[in-house]
Amino acid sequence: MLVLGFESSCDETGVAMVQTRSQGVPELLAHALYSQIEMHQAYGGVVPELASRDHIRRVLPLTQEVLQGAGRSLEEVDVVAFTRGPGLAGALLVGAGVACALAAALGKPVLGVHHLEGHLLSPFLSEDPPEFPFVALLVSGGHTQLMRVDGVGRYELLGESIDDAAGEAFDKSAKLMGLAYPGGPALARLGDTGNPKAYALPRPLLHSGNLDFSFAGLKTAVLVQSQKMVAAAGAARFEDLPEQAHRDLAASTQAAIVEVLVKKSLTALKQTGLSRLVVAGGVGANRNLRTQLNAECAKRRVRVHYPELHLCTDNGAMIAMAAAMRLQSGLQQASTSYAFDVKPRWPLHSI
Ligand code: KG4
Ligand code: ZN
Repeated sequence: MLVLGFESSCDETGVAMVQTRSQGVPELLAHALYSQIEMHQAYGGVVPELASRDHIRRVLPLTQEVLQGAGRSLEEVDVVAFTRGPGLAGALLVGAGVACALAAALGKPVLGVHHLEGHLLSPFLSEDPPEFPFVALLVSGGHTQLMRVDGVGRYELLGESIDDAAGEAFDKSAKLMGLAYPGGPALARLGDTGNPKAYALPRPLLHSGNLDFSFAGLKTAVLVQSQKMVAAAGAARFEDLPEQAHRDLAASTQAAIVEVLVKKSLTALKQTGLSRLVVAGGVGANRNLRTQLNAECAKRRVRVHYPELHLCTDNGAMIAMAAAMRLQSGLQQASTSYAFDVKPRWPLHSI
């Protein structure tokens, strides 16, 4: 079975083709991605209307690229998949509209996929795919969740952020430090050369006794700390402080976020008795998080799986993959009703 998948939930247009195999996980034949980051940078964040218009511009050329890369024609496609939610409504509608129009024209069935299920299953695209069951730490721009995963579609929510997501904590703190959107990777790069113990920032809900997260207070603490540093130096703005001050505050912020993510993941593993951890979503690309999780999990004989670095952030491959795995598991059938809708808000554990 050949699945063509579309991702357009936020600021990346992704298209991919995967093929199921008689045994093992489906194979990625080709994928193509266009990131709108540069376009949104001028505004300091994603502008939804611009995102939708740009998805329209990119989606068909990317589809051609994927067909060429896979050496397949549209007529050979068995199922067309798209991200149905969560995400920006207008942006989602572009992928959904294109997928359903294409499927209708080809007379092939269509399947709407949950974006976070795509992230969750993205480590299956790696050389060393995980085995069920596992604990998943889902850390994207909008979500921070710990899940128990017993199989495709068998997801139990163990804990989640009650306010900002870890990705938001990275991005908002970065913005306070004057770093360009999306600040997460920039803050991480800066922090890698700073002193993580320079400033004592809070570790929210670290000892809450449950698996929930809260990151909203952290950005306030970063703001207060940066104001103190500006006042102490008699400077006009944070940007005017020496480079080392930037590095140290970035390192301290990163350390606070990573420590909470690592400790809560270890608690989830202990509570469930599972010995496999899957980390997915954009923040899963963070090197510091990977190093600390690897070290702590090695001590406990827990295997950790990540998506390939370039598939941590949004892409079409994870959507085509999630669709193929859902279909293969018999959990869901693709539909020939082309009356589509999108779900901007859609909890993963409710699917
Ligand atoms: O999963 P994703 O691409 O988009 C959503 O579905 O939300 O995640 C994007 C998030 C952003 O908050 C971005 O700043 C963060 O992932 N991110 C990182 C890194 N790379 C991406 N955060 C920390 N360190 C990184 N290396
Ligand atoms: Zn995402």
